[in-house]
Amino acid sequence: MTAGGALQEKGLLRFLTCGSVDDGKSTLIGHLLYDCNEVSEDGLDLLKSQSKTVGRAGDALDYSLLVDGLMAEREQGITIDVAYRYFSTPRRKFIVADTPGHEQYTRNMATGASNSDVAILLVDARKGLSIQTKRHSKIVSLMGIHHLVLAVNKMDLVDYNQQVFDDIERDYAQFAQKLGASNIQAIPLSALAGDNISAPSPAMPWYDGPTLLSYLETITIRDKVQGKAFRLPVQLVNRPDLNFRGFSGCLSAGTMSVGDKVRVGSSGALSSIASILTPDGEARHASAGEAVTVTLGDEVDISRGDVIAPADDPASISDQFAAHVIWMHQKPLLPGRQLQLRLGCQSVNASITQLKYVVNYEDNSQTAGKTLKFNETGYCNLALDRPVVFDTFKNNRDMGGFILVDKLTNETVGAGMIAFGLRRADNVHWQAMDVDKQARATLKAQKPCILWFTGLSGSGKSTVANVLEKKLLAQGRHTYLLDGDNVRHGLNHDLGFTDADRVENIRRVAEVSKLMVDAGLIVMVSFISPFRSERRMARQMVENSEFIEVFVDTPLAICEARDVKGLYKKARAGQIKNFTGIDSPYEPPEQADIHLYASDKSPEALAEQVFADLEERNIV
Ligand code: ADX
Repeated sequence: MTAGGALQEKGLLRFLTCGSVDDGKSTLIGHLLYDCNEVSEDGLDLLKSQSKTVGRAGDALDYSLLVDGLMAEREQGITIDVAYRYFSTPRRKFIVADTPGHEQYTRNMATGASNSDVAILLVDARKGLSIQTKRHSKIVSLMGIHHLVLAVNKMDLVDYNQQVFDDIERDYAQFAQKLGASNIQAIPLSALAGDNISAPSPAMPWYDGPTLLSYLETITIRDKVQGKAFRLPVQLVNRPDLNFRGFSGCLSAGTMSVGDKVRVGSSGALSSIASILTPDGEARHASAGEAVTVTLGDEVDISRGDVIAPADDPASISDQFAAHVIWMHQKPLLPGRQLQLRLGCQSVNASITQLKYVVNYEDNSQTAGKTLKFNETGYCNLALDRPVVFDTFKNNRDMGGFILVDKLTNETVGAGMIAFGLRRADNVHWQAMDVDKQARATLKAQKPCILWFTGLSGSGKSTVANVLEKKLLAQGRHTYLLDGDNVRHGLNHDLGFTDADRVENIRRVAEVSKLMVDAGLIVMVSFISPFRSERRMARQMVENSEFIEVFVDTPLAICEARDVKGLYKKARAGQIKNFTGIDSPYEPPEQADIHLYASDKSPEALAEQVFADLEERNIV
């Protein structure tokens, strides 16, 4: 989500257009630019000549040619990025986020929506409402846009027939009721022929509503952030010399004044505003949208990502909350998988702990679900590894909106809107213990650690771990062996083999092994643990030197030939679903700490190799 979305200059309207491929978005924006004289003489000549080359009949101009990102669009038949365009009329300035219509690009649409005031939903008059229109409606309304224009385009292709328009308007009104959306203006238009864009269409005398442009010029957007308590998310701690310590950021809501009592989000520390510096010099006040540097009356601990707010109306802070999440990746959401959550300048580890329901775009109903697929929206609980400072999305889009990022690939996989913080964790505090890991380990005269064996079923993980444990025991070491098959009989007996269940399986066993390290043990974990992401999560739960990943590398063909438990045979026969290596993936470690080429060595030799490595690491 973009910062600074709160900026609401007088006379500035931000809007976005959304529609399916070919609904005519580029033409519509092109026509608006053209009607508002935003096209130069040269551009106009080019438009005329190119419109001919793209094969338009007569003098008709192809207004979509005016829109940037055009080459890609023409080459691929789709628009591929969010493009912001600026135009103005004597009454207002406009920023339009042109967001691609193709399914794949919901992510861009959500980006465009994050700071828009109005959404124009394009519908092809010949086709009527599509699921895409409904999905976009839901997403824009979730993202806090409360003014919707239903632009029924291509009226020229349905002979400007009122019935067609009325039917679409009625269908949409029914849908919008379920959505809970009000403030909807339906406009029949032709982006190509120019009907009802900036001048009333003589071809549709039956329509007496506003043209698109006059709607955009006159709509009043209630200012959502100016009247609220101020929020200054700190982007930078400015310390040019020892005498000055300023906190810089863009005010995302309200107005602050010198002398205001303030509270710092993360620590709750109290102080007051000593001075406000703006690009134009010192000021007494500053308001939403302004970039400022403030100094405080007291020495308080503030770092990037923190939020300065009024002492009597501070932002919330929590490490758990409920939120709507729009999933934007081809690979479905796996609840429990650790992701990175970015909220303003704050970045924390987070996972979706519970998916409460999936939103059905067709009728806005709620369906139970275990996962979110590409483009689906769900209502979820999230748990973070440390608290963030936030507001609800309803109150402040900047402070209540976040993105979720895959930690391995760095791709944005979801966007979220915080509904409210969960207080469950508030009354559960860490209990300080006098006997700690160090004391327990010292008593056992060993360095506790996790030996994490990963590999295909039948690769030899458990056999090697078993031999190793005997050897360690003989040396007087205190150990424990956590084995997938065994743990799945008890602690994890409720889990199967879907991707989501495997994520949870590993999360639990990682937590257990962490406790065992705390108990001072050398823990061997023997689980297929097919996903890099969860193995990495397990690694991050303990100190780096305490986690040793052992890759038991036996090729699938050999595991299958061994087929100790007869499971591969069953999997090939289709009797077991989601079998690792057959119809469920195994992601080998990119850089295991210990790599065992396990197909041609005895378990004893392999255990010996691990033991020798542990000696080198001073663990045994
Ligand atoms: S993991 O993928 O979630 O880490 P885990 O190690 O707990 O798997 O369990 C794997 C064991 O369960 C295998 O060794 C095998 O005996 C058994 N098993 C049963 N069904 C499957 C399956 N679909 N895929 C893999 N292993 C399975």
